[in-house]
Amino acid sequence: MKSLQTIADMRTASRAARREGKRLGFVPTMGALHEGHLSLVRAARAQCDVVAVSIFVNPLQFGPQEDLAKYPRPFERDSELLKKEGVDFLFAPAPEEMYPGGAVTYVTVESLSDKLCGRSRPGHFRGVTTVVAKLFHIVEPDSAFFGQKDAAQAAIIRRMVRDLNMPVEIAVRPIVREPDGLAMSSRNAYLKPDERKSALILHRALTEVKNQFDQGQRRGAALIESGKQVLAQEPAVRLDYLEIVDPDTLDPTEVITRPALVAVAGFAGTTRLIDNTLL
Ligand code: PAF
Repeated sequence: MKSLQTIADMRTASRAARREGKRLGFVPTMGALHEGHLSLVRAARAQCDVVAVSIFVNPLQFGPQEDLAKYPRPFERDSELLKKEGVDFLFAPAPEEMYPGGAVTYVTVESLSDKLCGRSRPGHFRGVTTVVAKLFHIVEPDSAFFGQKDAAQAAIIRRMVRDLNMPVEIAVRPIVREPDGLAMSSRNAYLKPDERKSALILHRALTEVKNQFDQGQRRGAALIESGKQVLAQEPAVRLDYLEIVDPDTLDPTEVITRPALVAVAGFAGTTRLIDNTLL
């Protein structure tokens, strides 16, 4: 595995691979890798000839009160994991390499970026789309792999790629869960044992919504209410939102007649967790 820190080196490496006719798969990450990330790397490995992974804790997607400074950065461990997965290129730029002073250009996917997490994290998705657009220009992948856990992020990136005619195929892979149902997340590392236990309520609420749907309930409001009743059993988790939305537009769905996304976000202690399921 070649470790690259500069934009110029990353671009040279990916262009050389593509010149040889190789299909380049790309997994953008912020590090603190878990099985969810590794499942994306394995999918990229299976579908592409060459795999590039980026590790960059993107300051632009963190709000002023958020966890940028304490976000876990176990770089050596991450690097070993990626080596074992047969990754070809690890791109790990410094913040000054990605954002030299004076940059004032942003990419915003209007209307989608202020929904779901975008409502409670203003500017978050603008930060995500700006860095992902930059990474796509640097790495120039044929395919890029994202996790379904960040379903709104995936929808917003799909829309950015469509609207800006970016020549990248977006693959979205299923959520990877712990054996007890907790969705894998780098932020799970923050959870104290009692918070981790309480956090399971998010998955339980989604499961209840899915059960009600499977039993024939189609009204969005009733489904949300059934999920909220489950969440109320765990007062240690503070709900941010539980919504049922169109998976592409992220607009609320009143009556479910086609695929819908049930998305939940809540705080266990000070840790913000998200999860979702598709109906
Ligand atoms: O999903 C993430 O880890 C980040 O939002 C991403 C896509 C790597 C952009 O910083």
